[in-house]
Amino acid sequence: MPKTPVIALDGPAASGKGTLAQKLAAHYGFAYLDTGSLYRGVAYLLLREGEDPRDEAAAEAAARRFSLAAVEGADIRTREIGAAASVVAAQPGVRKALLDFQREFARHPPGDAKGAVLDGRDTGTVVCPDATVKFFVIASPKIRAERRFLELKAAKPGLTEAEVLADLEERDARDAARADAPMVKADDAELLDTTHLTIEAAFAAARRVIDGVFRRCED
Ligand code: C5P
Repeated sequence: MPKTPVIALDGPAASGKGTLAQKLAAHYGFAYLDTGSLYRGVAYLLLREGEDPRDEAAAEAAARRFSLAAVEGADIRTREIGAAASVVAAQPGVRKALLDFQREFARHPPGDAKGAVLDGRDTGTVVCPDATVKFFVIASPKIRAERRFLELKAAKPGLTEAEVLADLEERDARDAARADAPMVKADDAELLDTTHLTIEAAFAAARRVIDGVFRRCED
């Protein structure tokens, strides 16, 4: 294969792309980057400093000083941080500040990994438009809300599935409607609907596609 192989998975929140991406990275021996954690990390820094995620100057400054080390160990998977992440992610200054890091990760995966797996909203459209294999992972809103509810409920007694569904729908709408790098399926991405798939079945389906592409690249 001529260049570092990159697998890009995009799609809405709780569609299963993160779990799938991690399994694929482990299977192929590739480095994994959860690009949503960068936006969540920026949101976390802002909220911790009492700043408003809608304040574009403050958000861009936070994105410029952001590093994974700065948020290591922090709980960035909360509802509040998810919502604030989608607010900062709509700001072009923030996206620009985080773009180089993501591209560098894909070009030169850390730890001498043979390739990279990135998941997010724009990894196949903007970050790595020439990725080797792209997926757009979807699932019905009801299933996604059920999955996210199961993840969050232990930490948030009293939380309802209806609240989680409302959060997801608000976030999806903002992510899809923004002018800069909206969440959209790349023309050459494989659509993978995980609504009725177990993790193992989704993993097997993705591997079939990837192995086919890798074989063609080697020919
Ligand atoms: O994937 P996750 O739910 O952690 O992402 C949090 C938010 O970060 C998303 O709702 C989206 O607004 C933003 N994001 C993005 N582009 C990416 C990854 C995440 O805009 N590539």
